[in-house]
Amino acid sequence: MLDRLEQQSPDALLALIKLYEADPRDTKIDLGVGVYRTADGATPVFRAIKAAEKQLVDTQPTKAYLGPEGDMGFVRALVPHIFGKTGNRDGRIEGMQTPGGTGAVRLAIALAGKAGVEQVWMGTPSWPNHAQILADCGMKAATFNHANADGSADMDGLRDVIAKAGKNDAVLLHGACHNPTGVDYTNEEWDEIAGLLADKGLLPIIDLAYQGLGDGMEEDAYGVRAVLAAVPEALVAYSCDKNFGLYRDRVGALYAMGASADDTARIMSNGASLARANWSMPPDHGGASVRMILEDEDLTAQWLSEVEEMRQRIGQVRAKLAASGTAGAVDLTPLGEQKGMFAMLPVSKEQVQQLREDHGVYMAGSGRINVAGLTMGNIDAFTDALAAVTG
Ligand code: LMR
Repeated sequence: MLDRLEQQSPDALLALIKLYEADPRDTKIDLGVGVYRTADGATPVFRAIKAAEKQLVDTQPTKAYLGPEGDMGFVRALVPHIFGKTGNRDGRIEGMQTPGGTGAVRLAIALAGKAGVEQVWMGTPSWPNHAQILADCGMKAATFNHANADGSADMDGLRDVIAKAGKNDAVLLHGACHNPTGVDYTNEEWDEIAGLLADKGLLPIIDLAYQGLGDGMEEDAYGVRAVLAAVPEALVAYSCDKNFGLYRDRVGALYAMGASADDTARIMSNGASLARANWSMPPDHGGASVRMILEDEDLTAQWLSEVEEMRQRIGQVRAKLAASGTAGAVDLTPLGEQKGMFAMLPVSKEQVQQLREDHGVYMAGSGRINVAGLTMGNIDAFTDALAAVTG
């Protein structure tokens, strides 16, 4: 029977990791998968995580099962950072731990489907896994354009979609640091979006995977908080991959806001049963380490300063790219205004291949670069390669 399965190509983005590793050139530049790098090109474990992990190893009394919701201390300790002063809105917001942000998005879509959502609207381009998860969950996807050519968000496209969406539709939005364009909504735009979603009664699903890497931890939560203040119900998928550097430990959370605390409890009971059937329970180690940081004032301050360090370095790289003006046919100036780790360059698939083969520059086939893969030491080589290929 299994011989009926058709061969699948490897995930194009994840395949870049192996291609890059196999390249013997010491001048190669990795701008592929979204992993933060320091000025030296390294992706070290956060100092706060190392300290928390040591404490965890010394004090963890057992590794017995927790339950499908995972470590609720971890889930609740993140609440003030994501939702701010309003906290859990009198029990209307509750969460559960998931295997990474991908697990959180998947659970959000599965929950929406179970609740009768018929179609999810999604801005494009988007993180390729969004479309893949929707398809895999059997959810109908519909798209709208996310960004205008001038580098602003396409608000008209979103307004149109909200106006024409059906009453059982949901809208999937990136909370901050849009992946792949780096084009975020302004606070005023978020306020408008929140009002439009509320008026139309659509379900917002917000993916917040890069909090802290755009304008700051508080600032990057503006959209989530504005939408949740306006609507009765929402789902928020959260990832700790980047802002705790826990990529391979798979640490995320799904939060649901219901119209009442009772509704929320019922939503979460469905979340728990879906999790049980999918992965039973999330891996513990990374989430427990995050909890240990957030329960300790000094470690929290240390963690926040490490996130801020990342944000500032990404800003410096963006500023340098923007200051270089153009590289061949590519105008790099919009990168100065965009947020987070990613930017889309107007390059063809052939040019992406040429950059990889002739210059050792690895980037997604879509033209997305991970800005954090650039350092003051390789940025000129990158812009020279871009000029050579597109000039
Ligand atoms: C990315 O977009 O590069 C990251 O979110 C990693 C991933 O899982 O795709």
